[in-house]
Amino acid sequence: MAFALITGASKGIGKAIALELAKRKFDLILVARSNNLLAQIADELSQQYQVSVKYLAVDLSGNGAVGQISGFIQTEELQVSILVNNAGYGLWGRFDKLNLLQQLNMLRLNNEILVSLTYSLLPLLQKESQSYILNVASTTAYQAVPYMSVYAASKAFVVSFSRGLSNELRGTGVSVTCLSPGATDTNFMEQAGMNTQKLINSANKVSMMPQVVAEQAVNALFDKQVEFIPGVINKITAYANNFLPKKTVEGIAANIYRPA
Ligand SMILES: NC(=O)c1ccc[n+]([C@@H]2O[C@H](COP(=O)([O-])OP(=O)(O)OC[C@H]3O[C@@H](n4cnc5c(N)ncnc54)[C@H](OP(=O)(O)O)[C@@H]3O)[C@@H](O)[C@H]2O)c1
Repeated sequence: MAFALITGASKGIGKAIALELAKRKFDLILVARSNNLLAQIADELSQQYQVSVKYLAVDLSGNGAVGQISGFIQTEELQVSILVNNAGYGLWGRFDKLNLLQQLNMLRLNNEILVSLTYSLLPLLQKESQSYILNVASTTAYQAVPYMSVYAASKAFVVSFSRGLSNELRGTGVSVTCLSPGATDTNFMEQAGMNTQKLINSANKVSMMPQVVAEQAVNALFDKQVEFIPGVINKITAYANNFLPKKTVEGIAANIYRPA
C-alpha cells in the first residue's frame, strides 16, 4: 500500500489533513520538527484508523532535509502516492522592520523546499498508476498584502508553480491541486507575530476550522481540482480581486494589516 507524505503534520491544517487521509484508510508519513507531537499523532491515528503511520522529525529548512526524507523513504522501502506540501508560515510587519534572514528562511520553507521535495518525490509518484500532489498556498496569493508582502508573494509562487506543474503532468497519472485557505484557526497567527486585538478580531470573523478545510481539501485533491479555495467568503474575495482595482484591494489590506 502506498503512503501519503504530509509536511507540517504536527499541528493545524497539516495535522487535520493527516487525520482526514487516515479516515480514508491511507497509510501516512508525517513530517515536522516536533518529535513528540508527531509520535503522539502517529500513535492516535494508527490505533483509531488501523493504518500504518510513520514519522520523521526534521527541520525542513535545515541543510539536507529533503535528502533525509528521500533517504528515510528508501531505507524503509516505502511507496508514496500522495505528497502534501503543507509546512509553511507567515511573518507580519513592515518589510524593512522584519529581520531579513527570517524572511529569507520563510521563502526557503514556503517555496524552495516545496519545489525540492516535489522534484525529489516525483519519480516515486510517477511509479503509481494514479498519484496526487497537494500544495498549500493561501488566499493571500490572490493579491499583494502590505505588511505580509513576502509571505503573500511566496504563496502567489505556490499557486503559479502548482498550475504550471499540473499542466505539465496532465495525462501522466500525477494530479496537482493547489489549496488556498483563508484565515484558519491554527497556530499561524501566533507564529507570524500577528498578536494585536484588531488582527485577531478580524480573523475571528471569517476563520474556518482546520478540520473543515482539510476535509474539503482532500475532496478537491481526489476530484483532481487544480485550484481550490475553501469557504464561500474566501472564494468570493479571491474572485472579486480579479475585477477590483489592485490599488483599492491593496489599500483595504493595508488598513487591516498596518501595525499600530
Ligand atoms: N492558518 C491560516 O490562517 C492559514 C491561511 C492560509 C494558508 N495557511 C498555510 O497553511 C499551512 C499550514 O499552516 P497552519 O495554519 O496549519 O500553521 P501551524 O499550525 O503553525 O502549522 C505549521 C506546520 O508546519 C510545520 N513547520 C513549520 N516550520 C517547519 C520547518 N522548518 N520544518 C518542518 N516543519 C515545519 C509545523 O510543525 P513544527 O513546529 O512541529 O515543525 C506545523 O506542523 C502553511 O503553509 C500556511 O502558510 C494557513
